Amino acid sequence: MSKVFYITTPIYYVNDRPHIGHASTTVWADVQARYRRQRGDKTFFLTGLDEHGTKVQQAAQKRGIPPQQHCDEMAPHFQALWKKLNISHDDFVRTTEPRHKNIVQETLTQLHSKGAIYKKKYKGWYSRTAEQFVTEKEMVDGKFSAHLGEVIELEEENYFFRMSDHQAWLIDYIQKHEDWIRPANRRNEVLGALQKPLEDLCISRPKARLSWGIPLPFDSEYVTYVWFDALVNYISIPGYGSERFAEFWPADYHLIAKDILTPHAIYWSTMLHALGLPMPKCILAHGWWLFNQAKMSKTLGNVVNPSDLIERHGVDAVRYFICRELLLASDTDFSEERFLQRFNSDLANDFGNLVNRSISMIHRYRGGVVPAMGLPAASDEDLKKIAVATVAAYHKEMEAVSCGAALESIWRLVSRANRYVDENAPWKLAKDPQASERLDTVLYHLTQTMAWLATLVAPVMPETATKITGQLNAPFIIESKLEPAATLPDLIPTGHTLGQPAPLFPRQTDSKQS
Ligand code: MSP
Repeated sequence: MSKVFYITTPIYYVNDRPHIGHASTTVWADVQARYRRQRGDKTFFLTGLDEHGTKVQQAAQKRGIPPQQHCDEMAPHFQALWKKLNISHDDFVRTTEPRHKNIVQETLTQLHSKGAIYKKKYKGWYSRTAEQFVTEKEMVDGKFSAHLGEVIELEEENYFFRMSDHQAWLIDYIQKHEDWIRPANRRNEVLGALQKPLEDLCISRPKARLSWGIPLPFDSEYVTYVWFDALVNYISIPGYGSERFAEFWPADYHLIAKDILTPHAIYWSTMLHALGLPMPKCILAHGWWLFNQAKMSKTLGNVVNPSDLIERHGVDAVRYFICRELLLASDTDFSEERFLQRFNSDLANDFGNLVNRSISMIHRYRGGVVPAMGLPAASDEDLKKIAVATVAAYHKEMEAVSCGAALESIWRLVSRANRYVDENAPWKLAKDPQASERLDTVLYHLTQTMAWLATLVAPVMPETATKITGQLNAPFIIESKLEPAATLPDLIPTGHTLGQPAPLFPRQTDSKQS
């Protein structure tokens, strides 16, 4: 029976164009969605844009245009990049859409009528950049830290969500569900933060200060706090209250990076709990890309444009690099030298070369027709053993959203297959008339190995998988589930005629220098 699988990315602010950080979480989610579809799961992959709030209002003001126009002009940049990156999302939310706004208002009405939202006067320090009140505890040497931007004193009447009511429940929930927040270091951070009393969450902004938001259904003088609005996308888009919602909720994964763990682990979970809804199965927060140890920022001028990278190196190399190098539990330095190293060694030398020389040899020695297998030799058995182990490890890692580790296991098979070619030296066998059956056998096993590899790399490198199946003249391979098993099925029959070989990843030099 097929399973139902629901995965989300953060919805990105439209205050600026997408960069490699946004692209990375989206690629990780895409790989997972493709993997689940390949296994036959009924999959729903949601991504989109967070269009309300101060950041967006300010970005529009800077450009001297209305916020809606600003959003309408920014959204295509994200959509075009996802197309270029072969992102296979099933829906794309923009929080200015009525289908989302209606549900935000519905959830607010529900919580308000339950008494989970109340109004109170509040005086305090307010950071315009962080869009929140901050406390004097966050001061160092009498000053608020620079990342909070301008901090002003403000007195306001606002609506608050009784988040504090859920603190004891939340601690207990995290303790009882070890894999709910992953990785473990992030889970511990959340538990640490919950040692202090949880304050109620201010969920409104007076229209006089911020007009760009969803009006509160019970007080038209206020708009909804952008985080309350944004988080609801995870239930509004599958159609909160509908049959479809009942089918897909709870989500299997909310994929995010560590910067937005608090809103997800604390605000969102308590909002859901107050609404009487089940928790998402896992909140998975990966690390950041750093640039010479600093976080990417416009002022540092280290923003990597994914579109340029794709144009220079191809979409699958970018997807491969993101999956292979970005880490779950810690940060990773991004460098184009590292990118080129990975490209040339993993993709050009190891993988591309294996496929290219294997197909070329079948053409050279057997007219492009897959020969029959003869008696097995030790190296054949070892190749198959590694393939079986690879498939088992691959599924285990993919299910845990560890695409880097899944790729590592695939590359163990790639290396073994390259060694298999070198050990058996088909070019020598071809010269020895006594070795004809052995040559058949080696070429047969190489064919099956390429077919297995094509299905295994498909979620990470869909375009490459299609190229390989095209060169093998066997597009049907991609449908193969390749389940973990003691013996892998041979996917291409003897007598099958292959297509023509063409290099998959021609070696790259740094195009900026050339
Ligand atoms: N709009 C909120 C999210 C609301 S979700 C209900 C937001 N948007 S954002 O545009 O700032 O995107 C933050 C996310 O972008 C991170 O959590 C991560 O997924 C991705 N990244 C942004 N910079 C990144 C890096 N330097 N490295 C890796 N991913 C990063 O927060």
